[in-house]
Formats: sequence, C-alpha cells, structure tokens
Amino acid sequence: MKLNTRVAVATLLLGVSPAALTAQIVEPTTPPPAPAFDAQGEPVFVNRADIYTYRALDSYAEPDFVAAFVAAGQLPPVAERLPAEPLVYSTANMPDGVGAYGDVMRHVIGGRPEGWNFWGGQTQGWGGIDIGLTECLTRTGPLFTVSPDDLEPMPNLARSWDWAEDGMSLTVHLIEGAKWSDGDPFDTEDIAFYWNDIVMNPDVTPLMNATQDTYGSGTTLEVIDAYTFRMNFTTAFPEQVLYAMAYGNFCPGPSHVLKPVHPTYGGESYDAFRNAFPPTYLNFPVMGAWVPVEYRADDIVVMRRNPYYWKVDDAGNQLPYLNEMHYRLSTWADRDVQAVAGTGDFSNLEQAENYVESLRRAADPAAPARLAFGPRTIGYSLYFNFSGNGWGEPDARGQAIRDLNRNADFRMGVTQALDRVRLGESLVKGPFTVQYPGGLYAGTSFYDEASTVFYPYSLDSARAHFEAAGLTDTDGNGFLNHPADVLGGADVQVTLLANTDYQTDKNLAEGVVAMLEEAGIRVSLNLLTGNDRDNAMNAGRFDWMVFRNASEMITVVQGTTQLAATGPRTLRHHNANDAGALDLLPFEQELADTVNAFITSRDADERVALMKDYQRIYTENVYGAGLTAYPGALIINKRFSNIPAGAPIFMYNWAEDNIMRERVFVAADAQADHELHPGTLPGAPGSAGPVSAN
Ligand code: GLA
Repeated sequence: MKLNTRVAVATLLLGVSPAALTAQIVEPTTPPPAPAFDAQGEPVFVNRADIYTYRALDSYAEPDFVAAFVAAGQLPPVAERLPAEPLVYSTANMPDGVGAYGDVMRHVIGGRPEGWNFWGGQTQGWGGIDIGLTECLTRTGPLFTVSPDDLEPMPNLARSWDWAEDGMSLTVHLIEGAKWSDGDPFDTEDIAFYWNDIVMNPDVTPLMNATQDTYGSGTTLEVIDAYTFRMNFTTAFPEQVLYAMAYGNFCPGPSHVLKPVHPTYGGESYDAFRNAFPPTYLNFPVMGAWVPVEYRADDIVVMRRNPYYWKVDDAGNQLPYLNEMHYRLSTWADRDVQAVAGTGDFSNLEQAENYVESLRRAADPAAPARLAFGPRTIGYSLYFNFSGNGWGEPDARGQAIRDLNRNADFRMGVTQALDRVRLGESLVKGPFTVQYPGGLYAGTSFYDEASTVFYPYSLDSARAHFEAAGLTDTDGNGFLNHPADVLGGADVQVTLLANTDYQTDKNLAEGVVAMLEEAGIRVSLNLLTGNDRDNAMNAGRFDWMVFRNASEMITVVQGTTQLAATGPRTLRHHNANDAGALDLLPFEQELADTVNAFITSRDADERVALMKDYQRIYTENVYGAGLTAYPGALIINKRFSNIPAGAPIFMYNWAEDNIMRERVFVAADAQADHELHPGTLPGAPGSAGPVSAN
C-alpha cells in the first residue's frame, strides 16, 4: 500500500544517523561555465580629461528662443548665466560632434514620483528622472569609457580635489559661479546644508540612504569658503569617498528652497519637510539640464531646458541640446514596447521576458530604434534578513525566521533548493542567463572564479541541510516544522518581499516560492510597488527579499561600503536595531573587515587579494543567494546622435547617465515635432508651469 510505504520512508528518514545525513550533502564546486554572449559595441577608451575640462571660452551661444528671453529683459545674457569657467565638452570625444538644438527625449517609466524632495527621501519615479535633475560632486556613469589607467571619478560640481599629504583629509574645489535653474548661486551653503541637515541628521534619510558611514565612519566636513570645503577622515586616503560623491549620494539640493521648510530652520516637522515639494510643485530648482514644468498624475512629467545649465560644448553652445524631456508614467514593460515601436525613445532592456520579442522587432532594418547588448550586469539575489536583534521589529514568527537566516545550514539548504537553470529559463531561453552564485559578477574586474563557491542544485542536499538546521516535517504535511521549542513546532513560514513593478522580479520570486516548496519550506509573497518595497526594505520589514543588485557587485570601487555591514546602516539586508546595535555573525565581521581593508589599501595587488577573500567568504557562507545574471541592452531611437559606443545599460550608473544626455542631440533634418511646450523656459519655483518670452 502506498500510504504505508510513505510512512516507512518517513520513519527511515527520521531515523537517519548524522553520518547518513552528511552522505546526502552535495559539496560545493566552482560555478558552472557561462554560455558565450558577446557584448555588441566596444567602448572607445579615453582619459577623463578627453571628455571634458573646465575653461572660459571667448563667446557662448544659446537657442534662439532663449535669446528672445534675454532680448525681452527676462533673463541675463548667457555669458552671465554661465560660470566664468564652465564645464566644456570636447568635440573630439563626441561620436557625432557638435549638436543642433531642439527635439525631445521621450522616456517611459514604471515608477511614480512621490515628489521632488530627493533629500527628504522621496523618489521621483526613477528611469532617469532624478539622474537628470540632480548633479553630484563627481560623476561615474561615463567611466565605462575611461581607460583603466585613468580610472577615478570624473569631476562634476567638484572641479578638482587635493589629498592632504597624510591622506587624512581631502580639500574639494567646487565649480565657481554656477547657478541653480532659478538663478540662485550654487556654493558651499548648499554643501553645508546637505552635510549637516541631511546626511548627519538622523531624522532625515535621503533617497539613496547616504549616511556619514557612506563617507567613512567618523568623517567630518568643514567649509573653507564659498567654493571650498574639506573632509576629514579617520583613515588615510579613503579613495572610495570620490565614488561616494557621485550619483546617488553627494548630490546637494537647493538649500535656498529646502532650508526654510527643514525643522532645524523653523520647518514644521520632518514629515512636512519630506512632503513639501509634491510633484505638482513645478519649476523646482535643479542643477541638472532640465527642470520639471508639467506633471499629470499617472500620465506624464515634462521638463524643459535649464537656462542656467553650467555645461557647454567647445564651440560655446550652452547645453543641453535637447529642449525637453518627457517621462511617460506607464510601466517598465511598456518602456521596452514603446522604445522598440518608436513611440518612446529610450529603454534599458532589462526584463529578460521581453528579449525575444524586442530582438525580433529590432532586427527589421526599418525598425525605428537600435538595440545593443552589453555585458552581463543585470543580476538578482535572494537576500536573508540577518538582523537577530530587532531591526524591522519582527513578530515571533519573523524572529524565528531571522534565527534561521543566521544559521549557515539553513542558508545552504535554501541555495541548494534553487534550480538556477530552471529559474533563468523561466525568464528567457537562449544564451542570456547564467547561474549566479551571489557576490561579485562573473566577467567583472575583481571577480575570481577560483574564489567563488557554488552550491549545486540538489533537493536531497537541501533537505539534509535543513535537517541539520533543526527542521523536520514532524506533522507529515509536506512542510518542515520548527523544533518543538520554537513556536510550538509550527510549520516554517517565510515571507518573501519583491517589487511588483517588474515582471522579472515577480517571476523570480514566484520561482523561489515554488522551488522552496519542493524542498519543504513554505514561502508566501509580499509583492509591493517599487516605492512601498523600498520603504519596507529600508525599514528592515522583510524575512527574505528578491533584489536586483546595485553597482557595487559590478564595480566594487563604487558603493564599496555597501558590500558588507561596514557601518550600522550600510548593508541592505543587515542594519542595526533602533538602539544602534549591529549583531554581526563572525563571518559577517570578517567580510566587513575585508571590505574596510580594501577601502584603506592603496596597493593594487592587495586589493585584488582582498576581493578574492571577500568573494570566498561571501559565497561560502551564502550571504546572499544569487539567482540569475544576464546582459541588458540599450534601446534608443535612431534619430539621436552622440550615443557613445558600448554604453552599458548598467555599470557605474544607469545608461541615462552613461550616454551623457546633455550632449545627445537630434540632427536638424531628423528632428520631430515632439515638444509639448515649444518656446518656453521654466518659471519661478512653485509657479504654474513654463513661461514664454514677452
Ligand atoms: C529603474 C529602471 C532602470 C533605470 C533606473 C534609473 O530602476 O529599471 O532601468 O532606468 O530606473 O534610475
């Protein structure tokens, strides 16, 4: 009889000796080989100074419609709006040379703007909106085209910097005389506000969570004069600080509008501060090339050129070339569809489910857009919440999962329950996806295969690890139970957080649920929209999460402090509790020490060796269980010029930054009639929409 056989097998399994258990465990190996997939288009390697420098030119030019504002006395002459020494792009480095003014880049995005207060932690909806609004002290997007010998962040709002001889401080020189889009001067008042009232204020969490630790624990900042400040460190030459000054972190906000609503300066409350600039607040002052002038909920954000933008080409034309930017508020999948169809202009093709159809349509010579694949830099991991001491305030069930997450056998069981071939193929068949063990991506500069530990798929082995972690199916319902002294021996019940804005995130999360079920672990999904997911993640309210990895897994040198729990709030899946206590496991401490040693080391060989250690400790201990990694493709309408060869959709930054949109243009004879507000410029902050010249 079937039933009896099952009971007999169960009895047998329950009675196995530890030796028999070990026999079932499938030992780790190095990762399986990846199918060959060649990136299309190689970057041209140059030095940073070949791309742009800072200098005065004899004369400057602007679009005719902007000159009309000057003629009408509504705007100072262009030379007065620009810094004495603007940032000057070199024609020699522009793929198609000096551009023509006009036209629009029509983005489609899946996110929704909460408001303009990036510094108070609001999202603008992603997809390049905030990248276009904020400018940061340094810039890293274009580094994909910088030769390895000159690899260091590019200057941007910081035009230069000098290290003290002992490396314990860095003096930063800002561009002088640059202005916000409403004409207010950009200077160290903005820097001091950003540092003192955003980064150092525990009541404010900026969008990308920059804290003091992002710049090294104990780092301080002092203003020297209107255009100079100094950062003081507790270790010598922490060069990663220059990367932490790039997009996402040291991107100062307009203190002249933020300060009056900040509680330190009389603002009502931190909530009120965060929400003071909703999407309907138009003409918010920016240092970026375009200013928001129109917002329609669930429809569109329109931006017009910033008349004070501080960058020019070397013929003296004030940038940007494009007069307008659109962000159609739709879905990420629709971004691919529209870019391929030509009703949108740009997409980072990153949801593998759309690859086959997009490729098929782009292959038509008459297709309106070009599509080029880059390296395998899109990757997902399953992260375990490692806090055992209360971050995110778990209930008893959640706490029991945290305790399991901190158990190596449990994590090994989870990783061996994942059939990564099936996971990858559930997204797309073909040579795209690879089995990703976790940690640094294969093919990136610090990756070392021999230091990468891969736990092969094996349900038997997974079950053996779970048993070693104390989990058995005591009630015979097919799901593993906690030991009797935990939650009364209830079924293990895990909640998996994932972002519902992306089909890929949902598919991977569903795959994880199904595979863990086969291994006897019951997982339920907590699917939230991007904004809600981010809030839950940042507050530590999750057991596990499926997460599309950030750039530190590719570059190592950027976001370095986020590679491990190098501070109380640097790692996405292990933060300190409210009392500031961070309960690191011994291997986590080792990882953090390794990353900190990497940050302080200036010896190239030592840095390579340290990252090998990192990768080994990370993958051996399954700090995150990698799921899949694959290449992304840039889809861009054929009418655009100056798109650099080999621009990856994701490396140091997203393609929206990598292609340097301010110097992208549409040749006069290719320009389409897409401007929604032709002939207008942004108005005064908070006023209704753009304005025309009298
Ligand atoms: C989202 C998109 C990415 C990219 C970024 C830019 O995350 O998925 O492709 O556009 O926004 O911030």
